[in-house]
Amino acid sequence: MATDSELVNAAIAAMDRAYAPYSKFHVGAAILDENGQIHSGANVENAAYPIGHCAEASAIAAMIMAGQRRIVKIAVAGGNGQDGMLCTPCGGCRQRIREFAAPDVPVLIADPNGLQATFSLATLLPESFGPEHLVG
Ligand code: THU
Repeated sequence: MATDSELVNAAIAAMDRAYAPYSKFHVGAAILDENGQIHSGANVENAAYPIGHCAEASAIAAMIMAGQRRIVKIAVAGGNGQDGMLCTPCGGCRQRIREFAAPDVPVLIADPNGLQATFSLATLLPESFGPEHLVG
């Protein structure tokens, strides 16, 4: 099973793959699935600004294409590592993560220097709506 630092390093490495010519804000995300595999992704912007997508969405797509459905842990890395700002997932990505993660799943927040903070998904998205509201 990958360690937290391996997951964080995968998210930091994914920052280098970001396509972010407009914001110049590189974000990487790395998901640990229940089989111990890591799936990473980066933000992909577009000249038509609203259709760009976040690093978390890329990592979720990679997990799905690998045949996995459960997030055990996720790391998100972004920022310049100098201003002290945490690159926490945007609101939409909190809900995207929720689709595949239980409320107690740890969300590791990193910058290029390494891990900066850890939150549960429930802290970032309290009283959330999820698939169990609709399925079963
Ligand atoms: N971004 C992410 O990739 N994830 C987030 O949770 C926050 C924002 C990206 C989207 C856009 O490409 C850039 O950061 C600036 O908003």
